Amino acid sequence: MSALVRSSGDVSLDRQYNFVELLERENDQKAALELLQDICDRAPHWVWGWYKLGLLAQTMDLTDRAVAAWQKAVALDPSDQLGAGLLLHQYASQPLEQMPTAFVETLFDQYADRFDASLVGKLGYSVPENLGLIVSELHSERFSTALDLGCGTGLAGAVFRPVVDHLSGVDLSQSMLVKSKARKIYDSLSKADILNLPYLDKPQYDLIIAADVFIYMGALERVLNWISLALQPNGFVAFSVESADDSVSYQLGSARRYRHSKSYLTQVLDRFGLAIIAFNETTLRKDRGIDVQGFLVVAKAPLIQTARHPNYVEAHADVSLNLEQDNDYSLQ
Ligand SMILES: C[S@@+](CC[C@H](N)C(=O)[O-])C[C@H]1O[C@@H](n2cnc3c(N)ncnc32)[C@H](O)[C@@H]1O
Repeated sequence: MSALVRSSGDVSLDRQYNFVELLERENDQKAALELLQDICDRAPHWVWGWYKLGLLAQTMDLTDRAVAAWQKAVALDPSDQLGAGLLLHQYASQPLEQMPTAFVETLFDQYADRFDASLVGKLGYSVPENLGLIVSELHSERFSTALDLGCGTGLAGAVFRPVVDHLSGVDLSQSMLVKSKARKIYDSLSKADILNLPYLDKPQYDLIIAADVFIYMGALERVLNWISLALQPNGFVAFSVESADDSVSYQLGSARRYRHSKSYLTQVLDRFGLAIIAFNETTLRKDRGIDVQGFLVVAKAPLIQTARHPNYVEAHADVSLNLEQDNDYSLQ
């Protein structure tokens, strides 16, 4: 992943941009907006500038200007590292199915050093402990092989490690993986996109965890289908989502995280033969001082494997990669 470029590439324009930030701090948004517009016009390829111009216009309720600026940012960087397309989608009628992976990867590469202190220390994040409690009430024995999807720095892995013989983790962000490796709790770690995991010829796991990860995904069909195929008979999947009401399947919130409804989750889990055995509504963490509500869900794989999603077969039939070999992070 290429590093985030904040500079316009022109020292004098960068200095003027510092002045934009000063004007913003002094609450002179109007002057800040006009100066930034002028800078962007003189540095038309500056993605960061257009992205910031959109944010500034949005705070002033200038939606058309915000939309136009973010459209420029996305046109200049179609991988959308800054997530301008997600901001644009706040004004679209259809929900965006998935976030750009470049945005998620960049977000967590930048956040990794502060992640634990911020999420646990400041935001009261308790999903791993709560998922651990629910699973322990449902299953008193050890798990032989578990996979932590979107393992991040290893907060969920640390909770489940004592009851798992072999624990693997997967994440998109290299910086998060460096942190989880340092925790020394995983038997193997891989860098991969969990929406694009390789096809496994046989079920491998008796527990799959996805703590605070589906919030970066809209449609869950693909990943839940993969999980249903990767779980051994009677294996468990334990995950969290932010909650939406049943009028939608899923929606992208203004904080650029997805929320999913109970009816949608029930329908997709059922479609892939995963039987819900716990469905708890709870507070996941805080965001800007407000409690974020969500669902903690545990579902169980059937005794007999279900069919693959048609898209899944098409996308993965020719890949037979072993997750544990596809990484720089093997601890073995
Ligand atoms: C909020 S963190 C949660 C980390 C960990 N599960 C925990 O409970 O602390 C979300 C993690 O999911 C990862 N992630 C998000 N989307 C992903 C994807 N498509 N593939 C792999 N990892 C992803 C991010 O890189 C990040 O490390």
